[in-house]
Amino acid sequence: MAKLVINTHKKGPTIQKEIYGHFAEHLGRCIYEGIWVGTDSAIPNIRGYRIDVIEALKHIKIPTLRWPGGCFADEYHWKDGIGPYETRKQMINTHWGGVLENNHFGTHEFLDLCELLECEPYITGNVGSGTVQEMAEWVEYITLEGTSPMANLRAQNGREKPWRLTYFGVGNENWGCGGNMRAEYYADLYRRYQTYVRQFGPNRIYKIACGPSTDDYHWTEVLMREAASHMQGLSLHYYTVPGSWQNKNSATAFSEQDWYETMEKAQYMDQLIVRHSAIMDRYDPDRKIGLIVDEWGTWFQNEPGTNPGFLYQQNTLRDALVAAIHLNSFNNHADRVKIANIAQLVNVLQAPLLTEGAKLVKTPTYHVFDMFKEHQNAELVETYLEGHQGDGNEKPQNLISASASRGKDGKILITLGQMHTTKEVPLNIMLPGATIKNCSGRILNASRIQEHNTFAEPERITIKPFTGFSLKGEKIEINLPAHSVLSLTVEVTD
Ligand code: AHR
Repeated sequence: MAKLVINTHKKGPTIQKEIYGHFAEHLGRCIYEGIWVGTDSAIPNIRGYRIDVIEALKHIKIPTLRWPGGCFADEYHWKDGIGPYETRKQMINTHWGGVLENNHFGTHEFLDLCELLECEPYITGNVGSGTVQEMAEWVEYITLEGTSPMANLRAQNGREKPWRLTYFGVGNENWGCGGNMRAEYYADLYRRYQTYVRQFGPNRIYKIACGPSTDDYHWTEVLMREAASHMQGLSLHYYTVPGSWQNKNSATAFSEQDWYETMEKAQYMDQLIVRHSAIMDRYDPDRKIGLIVDEWGTWFQNEPGTNPGFLYQQNTLRDALVAAIHLNSFNNHADRVKIANIAQLVNVLQAPLLTEGAKLVKTPTYHVFDMFKEHQNAELVETYLEGHQGDGNEKPQNLISASASRGKDGKILITLGQMHTTKEVPLNIMLPGATIKNCSGRILNASRIQEHNTFAEPERITIKPFTGFSLKGEKIEINLPAHSVLSLTVEVTD
């Protein structure tokens, strides 16, 4: 019998809403087709943005959107993407499929989209192949009110008022596609570039330095030692890749063993947060600098018959568990993790949404974001999980992932992932000192672990009500069905 103790009296940090953030790169069909179809399209749109996608994103309360990359960011020259469409420069997207990029989706289109979605913009600047002046002018173009060369240019292009710019990343993966730099070299460049990311007027930009890949602790050490006083956030990228980078899993045709390997690799994120945080603690003991997990998610083989450079993959119940594991982990580390962006928003990697022409599919990952959305800006509640380990035959050791928060309305949201492929797991949830008045549940599950939604059958996996629990004083007895994601909303009197 597993036990989850929820200490409702022990107040934790606020789970910053941005932990539920997203990422949209100029990659494959993410921006073009996935978000932006242009005003002439037959696909229903509002000022060129797909209405179905906008509605779906509003429903899960998308809190922030990162753009334009990714690797694309360090090849992107923002002035190519402003002004009349006919004069915008065309370029080859060398990193992703070698396709033509017409720059129709640029600064105006991105920031207007964030206003439409009422989410915080997160822009990544070009350090790898761009100049300091270019970065400085971009910030001036977006945020300076009044008269200046860039503010005037913005007005000429139809936008008088500045936009709000909340988050700015100074380069992306500068240890790899963003310039193949050493940590020591990038730390100096970061200090220089960020100097010119100016704070104009009332707009306050939260500056994010490029952080490590996976377990590159040296990178974290150097950045914290050399540049901590110049940053508000340090990024971390980690992808869940069962198999290997050379021999990735199929997104849909996978075995039980692949499933467990995926669960174990997804749970590795928690260790990475703990270890990078421990290094950060030495330079920032008050945890003022955020760990910004601005790329995470599964990376499988591309869907057969699609351009390998487009990273299009299907999304199954396995992805839903991966999402639950990550989001619970980010919640539980809300004192250090301030933003997280799943890769990527539409049609790329672990996408919440898939499109085909005018059709839209909400993937199991989308439904997890829906089930977890009330954690946004809620207060983390302390939890202890015991006896949630496998019987020794299956991987990984931990079979349950959990977190809990208290919303402004006083309700406790408990979110759970149960990873066993065949067995139900009995769980006692204890809320010491609280009387449970009411509890309602939701579940995401399917008969097969490979189950997924398709364009022909978009509702094969959807959220269902869950009533498989009983309330006993300060205890909830529950049988967690095999391979499922659950959420419980509990009303208590303390
Ligand atoms: O998300 C796809 C790519 O993965 C991004 O462009 C890059 O930052 C990372 O390597």
